[in-house]
This record gives sequence, C-alpha cells and structure tokens, in this order.
Amino acid sequence: MARKKIVAGNWKMNTLPAEGVELAKSVVAGRGEVCSCVNFIVCPPFTHLSQVIEAVKGSDIAVGAQNCATEAKGAYTGEIAASMIAALGCKYVILGHSERRQYYGETSETLNKKMAQAYANGLTPIYCVGESLEERKAGNHFAVCKAQIEEVVYNLTEEQFANLVIAYEPVWAIGTGETATAEQAQEIHAYIREVLAAKFGAAAAECPILYGGSCKPSNAAEIFAKEDVDGGLIGGAALKAEDFLAIGKGF
Ligand code: PGA
Repeated sequence: MARKKIVAGNWKMNTLPAEGVELAKSVVAGRGEVCSCVNFIVCPPFTHLSQVIEAVKGSDIAVGAQNCATEAKGAYTGEIAASMIAALGCKYVILGHSERRQYYGETSETLNKKMAQAYANGLTPIYCVGESLEERKAGNHFAVCKAQIEEVVYNLTEEQFANLVIAYEPVWAIGTGETATAEQAQEIHAYIREVLAAKFGAAAAECPILYGGSCKPSNAAEIFAKEDVDGGLIGGAALKAEDFLAIGKGF
C-alpha cells in the first residue's frame, strides 16, 4: 500500500483571523491544480481555527491545531484542550515541535500526556522530532531522533500508531533558509522508519514521515522524491498560498 502524501502548513504565530481566512480561501481556490493524491493540512493559530474550518468547508483541505493541553479540562488557565480542538472540526494536532520543546520546555513526559489527549479525542498527531545544530555536529542526530521516538511513540498502541504522522525537522533548518539535503533527509527518514519498525513491525511502512525545515517550491520535488520522505511540514512557505500549493506539486 502506498503511503499517504501530505503537505501540512504550520502557520505558527502568524496571520490575523481575516488574513488566515484569506490564505485558506486561496489554498482552496488553487487546490485543483495539484494532484488529488496530495493531502493538504493547514494549521492556523487557535484564534481562527473555526473561521479557517469554515473557509475550507466543501474542499478536501484538513485543518489542524499547533498544540493541545496535557489535561482533559479544568483549572489550567490559558490552555486549550484536545476536546475543544476536535469539537471545532480539527483532524490533526502538531505535537512536539522543536519551538515548543525549546521555548516552552516540552519534554517527553508532557508529550506523552498530549498524545494521549489527542488520541482520546480522535485527533491525529503530527509528532515532530529533530536534532539541533550542536547535536548534528556531534554526530548525535540519530540518537536524538531515536530517543524522541522511543520515549513517546513507543508508548502508543498499534491502533494509535496506525493513526500517526511523524515530522522530521532538523532544528538548524527551521526558518533559517538552510535545508537538509535530500540525501540527509532520506538517510534519517529511513533510520526513523527502522526505529519505528523495531517496535511496530510492518506497520512502520505505512507511517507517513514528513520533512520540515525551509522546505520551499524550489527544493520540495528533490526532497519528496526520496523513498522515505512522504511530504513536508511547511512553516514560512505555508504563509503564501501559491508557494504552499507549489510545494504540493513537488510530488
Ligand atoms: P520553516 O518551518 O518551513 O519556516 O523552516 C518549518 C516548521 O518549523 O514546521
């Protein structure tokens, strides 16, 4: 069975509601120019999830959130529960993004709770892994990704694992304009799949593994051509509908 091809846009803390709606509508408008085999996902800020869901209604564009709370509900001022996200009509949630690990102290412990919340509410996590520049320079990138997978993904049931997307995002390539080479991406994607197979066996062959980090129209095709790369998690280039869609044409 062929793996799902996915192009997901991580808008991060960008766009005001009206701008987000405009962007989503432009993606819907141009979507027809890209193979229907590509699954597009847009992940706007929480504040306009509803409006973006409304804007993509009737299209095959899915919507995801960029984070969710570790707890189901209660006295957690400022947090957003997975149930709230799911109730809006979101299908995905990005978890473990390096910016969250780095700036908000997310650990495997918190991510295990967030993953559990996501699954309890029918959301598909897009679980991010990736090494820093120092870790790559020291040759630790394999070990870092392995640990990030073992400490979180290994706790999933087979059923949960069947509903997971992984994104490999080398921290040194995020927002820096520096991209991993297609060979570097393939090397680590294949390795990640091996680590997944060690726990989940043949099901690892079905798990989409996305590349993220300065992915753009000019480099997407080369990266997506690699055997173990199943698409991209796109930051900066997802803020322009034209570029986001052009990345989808990279398949
Ligand atoms: P970038 O971000 O495409 O702007 O490098 C990717 C991401 O962090 O998801």
